[in-house]
Amino acid sequence: MSHHYISFENLSFSYPKGPEVLHDINLRITHGERVALLGLNGSGKSTLLLQTNGLLFPSSGRVVVGDVPVTRKTAPEVRRRVGMVFQNPDDMLFMPTVADDVAFGPRNMKLPEQEVTRRVNNALEAVGIPSLASSPSFMLSGGQRRAAAIATVLSMEPDILVLDEPSANLDMRACKALVKTLSEFNHTILLATHDLELARNLTPRAILLHEGRILADTSLDEAIGILSQLADSH
Ligand SMILES: Nc1ncnc2c1ncn2[C@@H]1O[C@H](COP(=O)(O)OP(=O)(O)OP(=O)(O)O)[C@@H](O)[C@H]1O
Ligand SMILES: [Mg+2]
Repeated sequence: MSHHYISFENLSFSYPKGPEVLHDINLRITHGERVALLGLNGSGKSTLLLQTNGLLFPSSGRVVVGDVPVTRKTAPEVRRRVGMVFQNPDDMLFMPTVADDVAFGPRNMKLPEQEVTRRVNNALEAVGIPSLASSPSFMLSGGQRRAAAIATVLSMEPDILVLDEPSANLDMRACKALVKTLSEFNHTILLATHDLELARNLTPRAILLHEGRILADTSLDEAIGILSQLADSH
């Protein structure tokens, strides 16, 4: 296994027919590191995260997870390692009940039903919604849906958690549960967020994206200082 667990190497990206939105990104994240991805709206955070598990592919350059370059061919293998929580939780919930959604990944991996149940219970417990197991997802509040979406990823027991705005819509209790859950996650975390309090609790290192470029790769405090200046100058 390589020392650098996720690396972005000379990565540039354009959406089809669009302008380039990520420019020559070089970034290395070590196994077990927790890193925040900060930046103003539209700076390219979600676009960068979607390249970590083969939902988008670089226009040039590459992404490597562990020892595996992310390609169309390796994407299924990479997705077993990288658990991605999307910016919109509705993209992740489509089964009749919350428990079915959380069980979907483990069942897909053909795990024994006893193991599936264990994982579902643990994941729902971790995000503080065990009582919602039998609820249909469409009946949940925004914050409850967010928690359920996070549980669908935790139940896969990934090596890397990639989270896009995981605390959006969460109340203070749910935020605290999220911080606790992520603190207990012993592997790599890459977190795009505007929630600086969440980042303060979790990620000593921060990458600051601005207009598709890395403006700083530094301590969280320093990155927040630069971000604040950027916000003032816009
Ligand atoms: N599906 C898409 N098709 C074309 N352009 C897109 C698409 N998604 C995003 N973009 C463009 O790519 C750029 C980066 O967007 P992105 O969603 O990655 O920003 P972000 O940093 O995640 O913003 P936010 O903080 O608002 O979530 C923006 O200019 C946006 O307009
Ligand atoms: Mg985004």
